[in-house]
Amino acid sequence: MQPVKVLFVCLGNICRSPMAEGLFLHHVSQAGLGHAFEVDSAGTSGHHEGELADRRMRQTATGHGIALTTHSRPLRRQDFTDFHYILTMDRSVHRDVLRVQATTQGAAKVELMRDYDAESDVADVPDPYYGGMDGFEEVYRILDRSTRRLLASLRAAQGL
Ligand code: 4NP
Repeated sequence: MQPVKVLFVCLGNICRSPMAEGLFLHHVSQAGLGHAFEVDSAGTSGHHEGELADRRMRQTATGHGIALTTHSRPLRRQDFTDFHYILTMDRSVHRDVLRVQATTQGAAKVELMRDYDAESDVADVPDPYYGGMDGFEEVYRILDRSTRRLLASLRAAQGL
């Protein structure tokens, strides 16, 4: 079977989407499904291209046993063809992603990450960039439960 390809997208690709990617990979690995998924992340802005994830996000991740090793890269039009699912971190990013998709033939299914958060009706994963460490911890908690539920949903959809 071809791997299911999942892309996580935020604005800078240095805080939320690297954390979502790291957490989803962690849950996939815990489930013994490493062979079944290919995962990446990207930003709608190329402002931080080439950078490691924000130090505060990496510190938070390390505290929970997860290493974030990705380098920021901008979203590409080809992503809409290459990936089956694109998860957006907030409504502003979601709108921008759909706007780019409209210029492509790509059939990726674009969904808001927080639609998978069963504990809250809030639509956005808050941008932690200009806040304190507690904001990064909150992003971790939101993404931990949202990516767990995303994996459960994809397993059901794909019969995995
Ligand atoms: P991210 O967070 O979209 O979760 O990676 C941000 C990173 C950088 C900036 C904004 C948000 N920035 O304005 O540089």
